[in-house]
Amino acid sequence: MDISHVDKICKDHGNRQDQLIGILQDVQAQYRYLPQKPLERVSELLGIPIAQVFSVATFFRAFSLEPRGKNVCQVCMGTACHVRGAQRLLEEIERGFGIVAGQTTKDANVTLETVNCVGACALGPVIVVNEEYHGRMDGTKTAKLIEDLKTKGE
Ligand code: FES
Repeated sequence: MDISHVDKICKDHGNRQDQLIGILQDVQAQYRYLPQKPLERVSELLGIPIAQVFSVATFFRAFSLEPRGKNVCQVCMGTACHVRGAQRLLEEIERGFGIVAGQTTKDANVTLETVNCVGACALGPVIVVNEEYHGRMDGTKTAKLIEDLKTKGE
């Protein structure tokens, strides 16, 4: 694994300890998750104990220590989305890809996650794909979303 990107990311943030979250965001954007080696390098460059780096990486749901797929599909399970049928949509996606929330498809095309309120309750139920919001989702739109994602993996 090429971890030279980590040096640049840390340098861009001035190698500052108080920039740890921003640095981890950039590291995750680079590798699509937070692998161990880059985290060790961050710890070394910032002079922060590795345990502290890991505790920040595991505290925030936005960070993933597991490899993620090329596409990240997040189903909002917050209250507003839940009462409008988010559970049903989640199950439809799980069936569509043969995985459950928290897993990645074998071809590494899609990672399915649940999140709690993405701040767009009026548009619920909401599904976020690669940070793009899809609001007022229903069964038909979800089926289309699944097909679109499958096409991306071909
Ligand atoms: S509960 Fe889903 S966006 Fe707020």
